[in-house]
Amino acid sequence: MCGIVAGLAQRDISKILIEGLHRLEYRGYDSAGVAVIDPAGELRRARAVGKVRALEDELREAPLSGAIGVAHTRWATHGRPAQHNAHPHLSSERVAVVHNGIIENHEALRGELEGAGYVFTSETDTEVVAHLVDRELCSGLALPEAVNAVTARLDGAFALAVMEQRNPELLVGARQGSPLVVGVGIDEHFIASDPLALLPVTDRFIYLDEGDMVAITPAGIQVLERTGDRDELTPVTREVVRYEHSVEAAGKGEYRHFMMKEIMEQPRVLSRTLAERLDPQGVRLEAFDVSRHSFLAASAGNESGAEGGKQGVDVARLTQLFADVRQVQIIACGTSYHAGMVARYWLEEVAGIPAQVEVASEFRYRERVAAPGTLFLTLSQSGETADTLAALRDIQKLNREGPQAGHYLASLAICNVAGSSLVRESDLSLLTHAGPEIGVASTKAFTTQLVALMLTTLALRQAKGDGQTDDLLSRQLLMRLKDLPHVIEQSLALDGEIAQLAEKFMHRHHTLFLGRGSQYPIAMEGALKLKEISYIHAEAYAAGELKHGPLALIDEDMPVVAVAPMDDLMEKLKSNLQEVRARGGQLFVFADPEVSLKAGEGVHVVTVPGVCRFLAPIVYAVPLQLLSYHVAVLKGTDVDQPRNLAKSVTVE
Ligand code: AGP
Repeated sequence: MCGIVAGLAQRDISKILIEGLHRLEYRGYDSAGVAVIDPAGELRRARAVGKVRALEDELREAPLSGAIGVAHTRWATHGRPAQHNAHPHLSSERVAVVHNGIIENHEALRGELEGAGYVFTSETDTEVVAHLVDRELCSGLALPEAVNAVTARLDGAFALAVMEQRNPELLVGARQGSPLVVGVGIDEHFIASDPLALLPVTDRFIYLDEGDMVAITPAGIQVLERTGDRDELTPVTREVVRYEHSVEAAGKGEYRHFMMKEIMEQPRVLSRTLAERLDPQGVRLEAFDVSRHSFLAASAGNESGAEGGKQGVDVARLTQLFADVRQVQIIACGTSYHAGMVARYWLEEVAGIPAQVEVASEFRYRERVAAPGTLFLTLSQSGETADTLAALRDIQKLNREGPQAGHYLASLAICNVAGSSLVRESDLSLLTHAGPEIGVASTKAFTTQLVALMLTTLALRQAKGDGQTDDLLSRQLLMRLKDLPHVIEQSLALDGEIAQLAEKFMHRHHTLFLGRGSQYPIAMEGALKLKEISYIHAEAYAAGELKHGPLALIDEDMPVVAVAPMDDLMEKLKSNLQEVRARGGQLFVFADPEVSLKAGEGVHVVTVPGVCRFLAPIVYAVPLQLLSYHVAVLKGTDVDQPRNLAKSVTVE
């Protein structure tokens, strides 16, 4: 998705902006651009299609410098990737705008502006913002008021950074629906879509709230809240939060690709996600954070909060809340949705609570019935996924006003980014400490989500246990969880074997993935990984469904990947695999050591470390990540930034 980086400094800003754009590359983009106000007071711009490198080539030909600037990576929504559609967009050589999001009413606004004599040079929705700001400036408004007046007319989601040629000491940002942070430096300040863009220049950030604007001048940072029907701007204090990860955490280190680095980090980040969250009695409820103003906060009424606007939890109140849960509604997208699908098996079997899982983009657009006592659980690596956020906002509104008001007990976000919108807008959060995930294909975020979901499942079981002291299943699961990072280490040791296996996939056009029970979502995740980075068409099926249709696809050209842990469904899965083999399908089975499956003609078996059936989905996800990685490397695709995809999907 589009990325914004902008700043006002006491030195040339252009190199900081270009470095910031490189750091935003992982979000996915197709063109890039930068504009500065140069020392002569001229507004200068450079734009290029393709990688940031292409923009740098252009800047080598025609360098630009200045103390204030706005820059952008664009992921095309309106208008093809082309230089004239790349941001920044200008109006009258006076105003420069960069934008992330979608302006839904841009056509009507464009018509109005063309009627007023503005000439458009792009097909983008963003250009209307530049001309609207220009018009407000011409009417005599100062830049912050002009941006405020314009944003009041915009429908849709946006984060904006705007500067004006006549005022090189003022940078304005606005956020509504798309992420925007302020980087707090010493005598220099910045705006970006993501803190990662600014780590070389600061580790202190202000996470803007929905609807906030910010005005940056040499005198400092002023965050402005829109009040009184949005037309007044009132200064407001927002907390400055220190970024918890080092610059190195966002680097590739010794690895060729971020994806491999992130796969290999899993034992460490799983340990970190578990650390200090377990005690001999079970899951420590203190692991859950509470957003501001919540009745669940340890010191209700205290609004200052801890880091990122979060406060400690009142354990007694949370125990009661968890004990009251009658149903869990899980909402997520993509890989996070697959984590939710695994959790449904756990919630129903381990905690005895009915659970439903749905992709956010479907959930938010249908009439729904929530049972009283529903916990609304969202899953997201980034915490900025537009569909997931919209679903949360939607149920919050309905829970206040709708016919089933009050049916949702609370919202819980399982998320990897502490200051993200999802965390800040949910009642409760449980952080997955995966560290920055840069590769578009989610790996360590997925397995840490699964661990966090198991912790949540156990916490719900505990709360329902009515003080039951000897809960054997909980005790066993806690023990296995502690051992999990070690088992993951063992499954990473399969890397060499899987790299060889990958050669058998590189010339294939289709692959089927099979699993049963809680491994069915793992098969889905394996298929998603393969298709997104190797561009091989891959589909996942619950193995029992084969005979209801997909069996027709099986012949000697169809590789079939199966995940086969030791569980109650093993014998049934084996029969399904026989059905494939009998039709000439090539089998690639990731199997428990105790599953007696013999490798031979058309049957490849990779032995996965033995693990208890509940935690098997976490362990089996790893070899499938490695498989897709090696196939993509062999095919020579862009592993970390696959075509057409974005890391953080901040538009619908
Ligand atoms: C995963 O490999 C994908 N890149 C994608 O499906 C991703 O999981 C999805 O867009 C959801 O993102 P989130 O976890 O940040 O909400």
